[in-house]
Amino acid sequence: MYKNLLEILRCPICNEKLDIEGHIDKELVEGNLVCTRGHTWVVKEGIVDFKSKEQETRNNWSIMYEAFDYKTWDDILLSKLSPKQLEAGEITHNKIVETLRSEARDWVLDIGTGRGILLKAMLEAGIKNIVCLDLSYEVLKCDRIKFLERFPHIEVNYIACDAKSLPFEDMTFDMAVSLAGFTNMHEEVHQALKESVRVSKKGVLSAATISECEHIKSVEEERFTLIHDLGEKTTIDTVIKEETFKVLMCQIKPS
Ligand SMILES: C[S@@+](CC[C@H](N)C(=O)[O-])C[C@H]1O[C@@H](n2cnc3c(N)ncnc32)[C@H](O)[C@@H]1O
Ligand SMILES: [Zn+2]
Repeated sequence: MYKNLLEILRCPICNEKLDIEGHIDKELVEGNLVCTRGHTWVVKEGIVDFKSKEQETRNNWSIMYEAFDYKTWDDILLSKLSPKQLEAGEITHNKIVETLRSEARDWVLDIGTGRGILLKAMLEAGIKNIVCLDLSYEVLKCDRIKFLERFPHIEVNYIACDAKSLPFEDMTFDMAVSLAGFTNMHEEVHQALKESVRVSKKGVLSAATISECEHIKSVEEERFTLIHDLGEKTTIDTVIKEETFKVLMCQIKPS
């Protein structure tokens, strides 16, 4: 984590400000954060660890990374995508980046960063002040290594925590974005969306590329319908790619 994260980060227990134990110049890779009431949190391998637990039935990255390293998984998962899927992904990333370019001047929150497909698109587009958040400490640890290598001069902050309870004050971020983050959640999606709206000035942008042939499709679409049903919202785009893929996007604006 970088020093500037202290401006916005709050203690998950008491919501007080946090400080770094000891002195750092810019990035804290190993050390402790302590709040004004004495709660202590560890920063390991550059990741703020708020002790969240990975999902059990999917996205259990620590188990996956025991079998293969993150580079091999990136290659395996990329090789499974068809050209049409890649194209649909591009449309989704471009749309998110376009929205951020017009709406976000300051902090941006990426909910459910996972392997960082959206993060990569945002970094390539020059979006700055990104805070990445995921239940999985392990996936964020690999993301930090991967993106430091590719974008050594861009500071990205990574926090392992649960989106159901965000360690930030109201309206901290210009926008919260998520690529297949909310659609991958279970019943906690309600609370996670509520929290994301709370911390964002201009609302939350949720996107997913839905494959018509995968069995998860129906579950993801169901969640998406649920997202659409919440609060004040604007559907930005829906594209049908030769009836095989749908790019679903929804911007939930603060009421
Ligand atoms: C399909 S991945 C997202 C893909 C990613 N956005 C990308 O661009 O590559 C879904 C991620 O959401 C995370 N996740 C699920 N529930 C969460 C929660 N309650 N809080 C934070 N992250 C969560 C999972 O750990 C997983 O890494
Ligand atoms: Zn505290």
